[in-house]
Amino acid sequence: MDALEINTVLKVKGLCKSFRDMVVLEDISFELKENENLVVLGKSGSGKSVLIKCIIGLLEFEKGSIEILEKLTAGITKSKWNELRSNIGFLFQNNALYDSMSVKENLEFPLRRAKIKYTDTELQEKVREALSDVQLEHTLNMMPNELSGGMKKRIALARTLILKPKIIFYDEPTSGLDPITSREIIELMNSIKKKYKTSAVIISHDMHCVKKTGDKIMLLWDGKCKAIGTYEDFEKSKEKEIVSFFIKE
Ligand SMILES: Nc1ncnc2c1ncn2[C@@H]1O[C@H](COP(=O)(O)OP(=O)(O)OP(=O)(O)O)[C@@H](O)[C@H]1O
Ligand SMILES: [Mg+2]
Repeated sequence: MDALEINTVLKVKGLCKSFRDMVVLEDISFELKENENLVVLGKSGSGKSVLIKCIIGLLEFEKGSIEILEKLTAGITKSKWNELRSNIGFLFQNNALYDSMSVKENLEFPLRRAKIKYTDTELQEKVREALSDVQLEHTLNMMPNELSGGMKKRIALARTLILKPKIIFYDEPTSGLDPITSREIIELMNSIKKKYKTSAVIISHDMHCVKKTGDKIMLLWDGKCKAIGTYEDFEKSKEKEIVSFFIKE
């Protein structure tokens, strides 16, 4: 019997990006498979956020190609981008919740903007399920300013999940959270991966998060992909750039 084929959901090939004469990304290539998590590790200013912005079409790039869910993104129309983006979730570092909207309204927002028109009962059910996924059913009518940092992160994650994305981009999901709350968010990311079979690109330098969520790690260094491997590969490595992320003091 043939081995079960695992689909590639994201393919980045030879990506180059500069701002004027400053090269930020140089010949970056990698693939992300179905139900796989890739952690992008790199010091501040190494181009992690620029990489994600190029992938989701917020920034143009000079060279290379990007294929999302088997579709090349070069030159596609705005409506095709919108269609592709409905399969992509993005968890912003600052959560980006709407302060003037309740939790319920924040969660309904992406559904109301989607092409499909949902009935009130469907909206209610989807909001309920997303809140249950993050174990915060009781916050339905609360406002963002009544939530703790960890709760806001969960609600932002619920809002990301509500359109059932195939790929989730997490920008520093645990930064600014205490170690206990960080662990809870990591557990949640992993349970979501298991339940919905999502793939994810995770920007992080929290080594606990890297260890617990990354099936594969890519180190960005001076705009180049310095290494790709598992956490265990990185732990064993003697390369000074990799070792520097494990130094505690
Ligand atoms: N819109 C822009 N115009 C000009 N330069 C930019 C722009 N966006 C990013 N840069 C530059 O690109 C480089 C990489 O930035 P990026 O935000 O990707 O870093 P990062 O790895 O995400 O860092 P951090 O960990 O601090 O978030 C930086 O030198 C930054 O100044
Ligand atoms: Mg960044």
